[in-house]
Amino acid sequence: NWTMVNIAEESIEAVREQVGGKRAICALSGGVDSAVAGALVQRAIGDQLTCVFVDHGLLRKGEPEQVEKDFVAATGVNLHVVDAQDRFLAALDGVSDPEEKRKIIGREFIRVFEEAAREIVGADAAEPVEFLVQGTLYPDVVESGGGTGAANIKSHHNVGGLPEDLQFKLVEPLRTLFKDEVRALGEQLGLPSEIVWRQPFPGPGLGIRIIGAVTRDRLDILRDADAIAREELTRAGLDRDIWQFPVVLLADVRSVGVQGDSRTYGHPIVLRPVTSEDAMTADWAKLPYDLLQRISTRITNEVREVNRVAVDITSKPPGTIEWE
Ligand code: XMP
Repeated sequence: NWTMVNIAEESIEAVREQVGGKRAICALSGGVDSAVAGALVQRAIGDQLTCVFVDHGLLRKGEPEQVEKDFVAATGVNLHVVDAQDRFLAALDGVSDPEEKRKIIGREFIRVFEEAAREIVGADAAEPVEFLVQGTLYPDVVESGGGTGAANIKSHHNVGGLPEDLQFKLVEPLRTLFKDEVRALGEQLGLPSEIVWRQPFPGPGLGIRIIGAVTRDRLDILRDADAIAREELTRAGLDRDIWQFPVVLLADVRSVGVQGDSRTYGHPIVLRPVTSEDAMTADWAKLPYDLLQRISTRITNEVREVNRVAVDITSKPPGTIEWE
């Protein structure tokens, strides 16, 4: 695609010009925007860039590996991984209120990223890090009033609110692009299709798909069920028709079931496939019955703690896409 080749080349040149010989850091979330921004800046300035991946333990199965192995293999980027799973679990201990969870996850994310940034900045005092790479897209720019600078960074995983002494100049190579263009650019840059075609995923991750307090066991249950649902959706060839497919664990609810000769008392899983243009409104997706049946059978067979699968048939409004 010639247009994309041009866009890629021009953006790489623009980043080179902006950053010069200085250093930059970038936070990877596992999502497409930060991945494409990071890959592009890596092409432009190579080892002057360090990417930071905060593993908060709230990603889906295989996603940390996609960042740590596949992304690095595809880009050759300098990656600094912080395993912060215990820290996030401790901070979330006993918390079931959705907004409280969001606040805690956002706060911890900034703290961990800030610590990592200080380490990276401090590692080479002669060449301080001057730039922060952000995967801001055109719709984000419009939404925040077209302004520039850290004040407009909207959600926590875009790393807003860094302290005064860690002020960076922003590098936002995707500022003029829409999502589909970012995906095309990601393919042009040779990123793995699991990253390029990843559906939108909330910054607080599985933390807001467990209804009730977040624990390691509950995360494992949800990760297993979610992996099955995603695998079957992909196998049915419907990935790109579905906007998002949250899988939700009703961790505080139990219902009676029967398996073999014995009574079970397990948790329900809710499937929440939706179609949408922009997440502002959404329709519940009418997935084929045979696909729903395969997902249900597999989850109840393969995930011991789950004995019931329900499908959410609420549109947005009145339901939101996520349950929390
Ligand atoms: P709702 O649930 O409000 O979600 O219909 C609309 C879109 O936003 C995503 N979402 C979030 N993204 N941090 C994020 O980065 C959040 O706290 C958050 N909450 C919801 C959701 O996945 C959907 O795409």
